[in-house]
Parts: sequence; structure tokens; C-alpha cells
Amino acid sequence: MSELRLRAPATSANLGPGFDSFALALPLLAEFEVRPARAWAVTVEGDGDGIPTGDENLFVVSARAVARAEKAHLPPQHVVQRSAIPGGRGLGSSAAAIAAGAVAANVLLGEPCDRRTLLRIAAEVEGHADNVAAALYGGVTVAIPTADGPIATRFAFPRAWRVCIFVPHRKLATKDARAALPAQVSRADAVFNLAHASALLAAILRADGALVSLAMADRLHEPARAKLVPGLDDVIAGARSAGAFGAALSGAGPAVLAFAPTRLAPRVVAAMEEAADAAGSSGRARVLRVRAAGVQIRSAP
Ligand code: HSE
Repeated sequence: MSELRLRAPATSANLGPGFDSFALALPLLAEFEVRPARAWAVTVEGDGDGIPTGDENLFVVSARAVARAEKAHLPPQHVVQRSAIPGGRGLGSSAAAIAAGAVAANVLLGEPCDRRTLLRIAAEVEGHADNVAAALYGGVTVAIPTADGPIATRFAFPRAWRVCIFVPHRKLATKDARAALPAQVSRADAVFNLAHASALLAAILRADGALVSLAMADRLHEPARAKLVPGLDDVIAGARSAGAFGAALSGAGPAVLAFAPTRLAPRVVAAMEEAADAAGSSGRARVLRVRAAGVQIRSAP
């Protein structure tokens, strides 16, 4: 029997004002090879620092959650995982494993679930729906909470824009970045984000860079997280001064994403690195396109 091979994209969530709602997929990929085995086990190739290889591995947790939801028996599998997604940076390395695990289980069980069901199960495993929505659907996504679980709507990113991602050398655990958030928000801050998030979507749909520069601002999570991400404000300011339309913390951080016109993107990444260095928080920045595809099945048994 041939093996099941899948790949899942990195994702950047929030995009500034879209906390736990907006995300986009990026062409940094995690690959998984899955074949029947006596017991569940994961071999992590490459930089697998801290990734569990047993039952707590998120690919395994997610695959088994799909089987449980379907009341189906999923035979144990051996998973080989290798990833180009930097872990602990707010680039969706967990969501990629969760989305891939859910899709893998669905294939192995004969595809009982539609994508919306997989999103619901993946969001339950992850704890929030934004990254897993973009990992499953690709493109730019909005995860809409409903009484029956999240529903994702997907749309394209402007072809003439690029995403500039600054990845600091230092990691930040998502649970620590979420623990820093206030339990309550004021009505004024809720209104601020409502207006900015709505405007940001309009800006992306219309490819309106001037509107991004107004809209990419947040009061729900970035101010509380700034103290955990040294140099955040400097990297955002550096990106903007080099020509980015806007910049924001990527997911829970500490990576930073910026939207820029293609011709200015090389200048923007250089400015982000320079600003981070000056603030004592070094790392590497790169220019990426938005990836149109979510999890892909490369070969099926
Ligand atoms: N929306 C989530 C957060 C993304 O900001 O905590 C985590 O990557």
C-alpha cells in the first residue's frame, strides 16, 4: 500500500485588527508522510525542537479527533513530519499539523467529513479558528463563529502586493502571548477594531494600499503583547517608513508581517531587519506571496 503524503502551509493570523478571525496562508510548507503502523508514532525530521513524537503530537491529536467525531476506527499510523515553518513565531506551525492531521484522517476514513466539519474539529484542537481556517482553505480567510462551529470565508490577496515577514531568532509560546491578553475590552476599543477590521477587508478586496495604512491597527491584542515582543513598534515603523502599506504582529508573535507593493518589498524586509537589530531583537525577514492553496494531498494510498 502506498503512503499518504500531504503538505500544509504556514499561516499568519490576525493581520492587525482581525484578532482570532483573519488569517492568510504562506508558501512555507510542512510535509507529512503517513503509513499504517502498529502504534501511533511521529518521526520529526529537521528542526523538530520540542515537537512531541507520541500521542500529544498535534497531527495525531487532530487525526484522532476526526475519527472520534465520526465514531470511526482509525488504525494507528506512523507519521514522518518535516517542516519549513519556523516554530514558536506566530506562523501557524501548530495549525499546519492540526489541519494536515484532520485532512489525513478524513482521507483514511473514506472522506466522511466536509471541509467545514474539518474546520470545526481543527479549531477545537487549536483553541481558535483563524490559523486552521487559512491552513485548510488557503488565501485570505475570515473565520466566522457560529453556534455550530466556525465557518470560513476565503478570498484572494492582491496580485501586486507581497507579504514581508520578519522572523525573530527568539521564540514566544502562543499560550504565554494569550495569557498576556486582558479578559475584558472597552466598548471604545471594540468599536475601534470593528471599524479597522472592516476597513482592512475592504482594502484587501479593493487592493487599496492607502486604506491598509489606515486600517492595519489594533487595540485588542497588540498593545498587551508589545511588552513580550521587544522591538515590535520599531519593526512596524521601519516597515512603514520603507514603503509598506501597514504592518502588524503575526498571530501571537513574535514574527511581524507587513503588506507592501512588490517593487518596495526588498526595501521593506531590509528595513525590518535593520530596525529589529537596532532594537536588540535580531532575526531574518523575507518576501513571500500569499499561498492560494490550503492543505494539499500529494499522494493517497
Ligand atoms: N489569533 C491567535 C492569537 C493566533 O492571536 O492568539 C495565534 O497564532
